[in-house]
Amino acid sequence: MKLENKTIVITGASSGIGRALAFQLAQAGNQLVLVARRLALLQDLHATLAPHPAGHWLEVCDVADRQQVEACCARILARNLPVRVLILNAGTGGGFDARRMDLSVMHQQMDVNFWGVVYMLHGLLPCLLNAGEGQVAVTGSLAAYRGMPGSAIYSASKAAVSRLVESLRIDLYHSGVHFSLVSPGFVKTAMTDKNQYRMPFLMSAEKAAAIIIRGMEKNKTEIHFPYRLSLLSKASQFLPDRLYARLMHPRNRKSRTDEKS
Ligand SMILES: NC(=O)c1ccc[n+]([C@@H]2O[C@H](COP(=O)([O-])OP(=O)(O)OC[C@H]3O[C@@H](n4cnc5c(N)ncnc54)[C@H](OP(=O)(O)O)[C@@H]3O)[C@@H](O)[C@H]2O)c1
Repeated sequence: MKLENKTIVITGASSGIGRALAFQLAQAGNQLVLVARRLALLQDLHATLAPHPAGHWLEVCDVADRQQVEACCARILARNLPVRVLILNAGTGGGFDARRMDLSVMHQQMDVNFWGVVYMLHGLLPCLLNAGEGQVAVTGSLAAYRGMPGSAIYSASKAAVSRLVESLRIDLYHSGVHFSLVSPGFVKTAMTDKNQYRMPFLMSAEKAAAIIIRGMEKNKTEIHFPYRLSLLSKASQFLPDRLYARLMHPRNRKSRTDEKS
């Protein structure tokens, strides 16, 4: 599906990868429905977008809040917009202390990264299914392949969306709706700007967006990048559990780094 002259819903459009996707997709002549919580950032983005004859729409919505998502989807459907593409990209990360088990952090990440996707699909997937065509891209992460240090809930939430997409693809195989899982490595955005550790193969949000759009146009089932980190992440699945844990433990990684320097 060429991503031109389509009506596309993008969640998490106010910043980072979502913002870069919006910019490039508007330039290609698509009409956009931009979803996020921060209206000022959406308005700022809107001012920079290539205009569409039917206009772009801004939707302030917390995707973790089921009622807000239902109201948001109802507003989109009430406009009779011919929505055929969903890019469910809103997400949140941040460190996780396994010794404290802070339930509020755990809920926040699962609610946004997993339930946010589910609520949006519940509201808008029927629109694509009724049309008998469409494309859904859901942003997972390379962190979904194996549990990452300090990211128990983030990794779990992204593994959950990846299984969700995989199963929906099977159930809706003959529906005309295609599903792409987007699995980025490190992309320079507000989310990663907070990280104190080294991020191998860090890429710009603009480059990530271009890769995602190209992958969606090819109907790729998984759009994973950057290539080398993605290969390493996939290969890590074959490591025995105990060896993987030992290699990934921050103390062991630190001592390996110290040895090299
Ligand atoms: N950057 C990376 O290295 C990387 C790697 C792998 C996967 N990812 C995934 O890529 C996606 C985009 O992240 P990013 O790096 O572009 O981070 P970002 O710059 O922090 O953007 C996150 C976006 O999600 C939105 N969002 C967060 N919580 C939300 C909520 N409750 N309701 C609605 N929107 C919400 C934010 O908008 P508001 O705050 O305005 O609501 C913002 O637009 C996420 O799913 C992330 O997990 C990123």
